[in-house]
Amino acid sequence: MDGNRDGVGSADGDGRGRGDGAADGGGDGGRRGERAVRVVVTGGAGFIGANLCRSLVESEAVGAVTVLDDLSSGRRENLAGVGGVELVEASILDPDALAGAMRGAASVVHLAARPSVARSLADPPATHEVNATGTMRVLEAARAADVAQVIVASSSSVYGPRATLPSAETHAPAPASPYAASKLAAESYALAWQRSFGLGVLALRFFNVFGPLQPAGHAYAAVIPAFAAAALAGEPLPLDGDGSQTRDFTYVGSVVALLVDAVERRLSADTPVNLAFGSRRSLRDVISALESLVDRPLALERRPPRPGDVPHSQADTTLLRSLFPDARPVPFEDGLAETLRWMRGELAARPAARGR
Ligand SMILES: NC(=O)c1ccc[n+]([C@@H]2O[C@H](COP(=O)([O-])OP(=O)(O)OC[C@H]3O[C@@H](n4cnc5c(N)ncnc54)[C@H](O)[C@@H]3O)[C@@H](O)[C@H]2O)c1
Repeated sequence: MDGNRDGVGSADGDGRGRGDGAADGGGDGGRRGERAVRVVVTGGAGFIGANLCRSLVESEAVGAVTVLDDLSSGRRENLAGVGGVELVEASILDPDALAGAMRGAASVVHLAARPSVARSLADPPATHEVNATGTMRVLEAARAADVAQVIVASSSSVYGPRATLPSAETHAPAPASPYAASKLAAESYALAWQRSFGLGVLALRFFNVFGPLQPAGHAYAAVIPAFAAAALAGEPLPLDGDGSQTRDFTYVGSVVALLVDAVERRLSADTPVNLAFGSRRSLRDVISALESLVDRPLALERRPPRPGDVPHSQADTTLLRSLFPDARPVPFEDGLAETLRWMRGELAARPAARGR
């Protein structure tokens, strides 16, 4: 099976950019050079993926983008109106679909996964299948297609509950959930494919990413969209535990800017790399920032701590800074304001969905 291809945008088959639609937005289409390449984004209909696609099509180095996504947690509508993007509706577990999507591509950004610690506790084998086996299939397909670079989304959860912070890539991982173990497997496979077969690999450990397109209305929602949707709906904020947990929250715009830079420079690295900027905020801090933005106190609905969640997380940024010395993260409060602005629009357009 070659997947169910669909014209969210368009891409030609030989990996060279055609440069039509929004891929050439802003009238720069004529300048998009012969060397503009095709990029495959697995999981590109999801939260981070769809934000990434919007930025990739603006890059002069990128001629076209192919998204491979089974739409299990992603949404076709996330890519609506993003020209220069072709959506192949298929699973990363399908080797034929992968081979078709990767033919002639220069880079792959592999984001497809069953995200969430809680989902992995509910069904560990399903998490392993997609996150570990699926990643290996992506790597095999990339190797067979002579793709130059595969960027793999790993997770800060691989560190587990650490006594000392910040977490550096040299610290021993200690996964505390099937999800974390599957992400450690994914990055290990990626680096092994680099060492064994010379595939260019960049394994990035994402921390807590937030921003527009991140859904709120489901049981496994991340904390910021869940808080933002509740705040805007006038409902109590669902708080797991006492709110003292801290996270290195990273705005999706900062993550995407870095991913595009990595694609443009064909970056690879021989160890995993933290992708966060070393800040640490408690959930109580997030609630205070939201209260400032909505200009009223927010009620809380206290719930028990979530099993498998680590109490604190913060990235050591030394390696990231050496690879991306020009990276300038969007300040947390600006990212939160932008997230609220987007969520307001979502709730107005689809009140029943609560941002889903
Ligand atoms: N959001 C975060 O804070 C965060 C933190 C750490 C790591 N990550 C990683 O970043 C990546 C993107 O996460 P996200 O937050 O955008 O999640 P998301 O659920 O919005 O995106 C994942 C995408 O993968 C797709 N997908 C799932 N299984 C698939 C399969 N078998 N074949 C093809 N597509 C499949 C989904 O439909 C979805 O579009 C994931 O690998 C996730 O583990 C995210």
